[in-house]
Amino acid sequence: MDSSRAETWETSLIETDEISAGDRYQLLTSLVVPRPIGWLSSFASDGSANLAPFSYFAALADTPMLVGASIGRRRGGPKDTLRNIRETKAFCVNVVTEGQLEAMNATAGDYPPEVDEFEVAGLPRARAARVFAPYVGNCPAVLECRLYREVELGPSNSLVIGEVVAVRIDPSLRRVPGSCHVATESLRPVGRLFSVHYSLLGPIKALARPRVG
Ligand SMILES: Cc1cc2nc3c(=O)[nH]c(=O)nc-3n(C[C@H](O)[C@H](O)[C@H](O)COP(=O)(O)O)c2cc1C
Repeated sequence: MDSSRAETWETSLIETDEISAGDRYQLLTSLVVPRPIGWLSSFASDGSANLAPFSYFAALADTPMLVGASIGRRRGGPKDTLRNIRETKAFCVNVVTEGQLEAMNATAGDYPPEVDEFEVAGLPRARAARVFAPYVGNCPAVLECRLYREVELGPSNSLVIGEVVAVRIDPSLRRVPGSCHVATESLRPVGRLFSVHYSLLGPIKALARPRVG
């Protein structure tokens, strides 16, 4: 990313209904940063496996434990991930870490449904314990999800909300003593910036909350 060549803005207020969908996408994905990447693995009803990254992705609630990914249309139809989740009502979220950044990227190609992205990226495929979905066998943290709800977001996206029914944690991940927090330094998560740019874990700053009353 060469920010030395950056231009200045012609206006300080951009009305979002006066710009193109592409411009809205570019503003949103460069301002809401860094975004976590949900690397979603699923089976089609015939058992063929699929894996693809989604950075319109967020943690939504803890009880029930919910995560959501917003999946865009491709050529007017659902992407393989969405079609699979509609068929099986299940998926896994593989947390993308520094060691798997290149493999994650390899799974983002516009492959036909019969292509198994685990094979494309040379990743081991394992079967989830609690839902009908595969997961990345060497991924240190995996959320096994059952479809909780699908919400249509306008003409171009569907939000799939998954209830996390099981969490897989590799023993290489450290736990903060006395809690269920996973030590971020041991996870080394990757964030998505815009386009082909990613952020890696930098210095971590701790800040106590203000005490009121
Ligand atoms: C880091 C990254 C994040 C992405 N985030 C999204 C996203 O949030 N929503 C989306 O529809 N596509 C997203 N994509 C594109 C999909 O991964 C891509 O369309 C993929 O081919 C979909 O695969 P599928 O057809 O197997 O579901 C992203 C791609 C990358 C590399």
